[in-house]
Amino acid sequence: MSEITQTTPGAPDDSSVSGTSILLDQVTKRYPGQPDPAVDGLTLEIPAGRIVMLVGPSGCGKTTTLKMINRLIEPSEGRIVLGGDDVTDMDGDKLRRRIGYVIQAGGLFPHMTVENNVAMVPKMLGWSKDRISKRVDELLELVSLDPALYRARYPKELSGGQQQRVGVARALAADPPVLLMDEPFGAVDPITRQRLQDELLRIQDEVQKTIVCVTHDFDEAVKLGDWIAIFSNGARLVQYDSPERILADPASSFVEDFIGSGAGLKQLTLARVNDVTLAEAVVARFGDDAKQVLDRMDKASHDHAVVVDDRDRPQDWLSRRQLGRMETIPSEADPHLPVVGERATLNDALDTMLVSSAGAALVVGRRDVFRGVIDVQTIMDAITAAHEAAIQDTGHDAPVGINTGSMEQVAGNGKAAGNGQEPDGGPAPDGQEPDGGRSPNGQEPDGGRAPDGQEADGGRS
Ligand SMILES: Nc1ncnc2c1ncn2[C@@H]1O[C@H](COP(=O)(O)OP(=O)(O)O)[C@@H](O)[C@H]1O
Ligand SMILES: [Mg+2]
Repeated sequence: MSEITQTTPGAPDDSSVSGTSILLDQVTKRYPGQPDPAVDGLTLEIPAGRIVMLVGPSGCGKTTTLKMINRLIEPSEGRIVLGGDDVTDMDGDKLRRRIGYVIQAGGLFPHMTVENNVAMVPKMLGWSKDRISKRVDELLELVSLDPALYRARYPKELSGGQQQRVGVARALAADPPVLLMDEPFGAVDPITRQRLQDELLRIQDEVQKTIVCVTHDFDEAVKLGDWIAIFSNGARLVQYDSPERILADPASSFVEDFIGSGAGLKQLTLARVNDVTLAEAVVARFGDDAKQVLDRMDKASHDHAVVVDDRDRPQDWLSRRQLGRMETIPSEADPHLPVVGERATLNDALDTMLVSSAGAALVVGRRDVFRGVIDVQTIMDAITAAHEAAIQDTGHDAPVGINTGSMEQVAGNGKAAGNGQEPDGGPAPDGQEPDGGRSPNGQEPDGGRAPDGQEADGGRS
């Protein structure tokens, strides 16, 4: 990653390729009549196929940085390199066909149908009618809009969230390797925003683009970002690292203020239920003899038994006391069972537990099959473990981000930047950091795993 000429697998002009890397090399933007540059000598490495979030206070230069990548704004100085190609002097219109662009509320043309909005770039590229039509259907399905219902509608006949989805479909139309998003979910209500964020992550799983996304919402950055760049005025990098690292080890009080309160709770959104070791449970079925179930609970030292149906889906969660009143397990379902999917975040799991006041939740996998029990202690242990792992991991593989010195200098000094140096600090001293072994996307799948053999013995297991 430290070689600026590095090309991602596949030629960048092959439109079937997913993301390509982006490099901003000492890029500066001065607006006429402004005393200070809006972007001040920024060098930023954006790895291929990852989501990089640009965050910072209003006016700090996020939008300017983003628009210099697709040259809606011309840099005053510096170079932009896309997948190894210097595109600084490339024709802007041509460049923008390789870069999808999504803005607030989708930025749709109001006088054009959904279909025509989505088809815009493919039409410019001279695709056949047939191919365009197929592509529009495919894209609308990708963003969870039924083509039969929506292709002929006009933007004003859509909700804000639907407009935003069409905006994403349009940006992806010609399958560009890069997607730029400027506060894409800023104009929708919190619930729709959450849904759109989840959807973007799902789409990204499928398409693996290089996504650069501007937000002023730190929680959104934590949720979406493989890497987060925190800017202060002049697009000066205060910290560029993984969400885990930024939460565990903020570079300065500026970052701390930006994170706001509850860094630990934010870490809960980074780990998923299937990252932690679940506790086993005594499982019973409709019609089972209650005494025998109680015997099995004695042997396992459990105070509760999970009742599942003939497809192993949890239906009820019975205490000793409840079982003591039964002869056999009745075929009843408790509509208020605290159930979470294994892909849910630990934050969602905690919510479920708190709402049910059970202190624990039942975890289900595919087709709602019962997998095990997660409890509050498991979650607390997982946060502690994730926090410690993030502190240990010194961001060795973090992409380069710096405001002074060229990329070559930085690369020559090893992976020096990108881990919280002050803007003027230059490259941090090298060779003092153990290799954290972080994967390039900063998402250690096991980062949130509790120590092995963790028994969830509190609550209702
Ligand atoms: N067209 C422009 N002309 C002059 N100044 C501008 C222009 N666009 C942005 N700026 C200034 O540049 C700075 C960065 O703006 P911007 O990149 O839009 O910030 P952000 O997206 O982080 O809110 C701000 O001080 C803003 O006022
Ligand atoms: Mg902006």
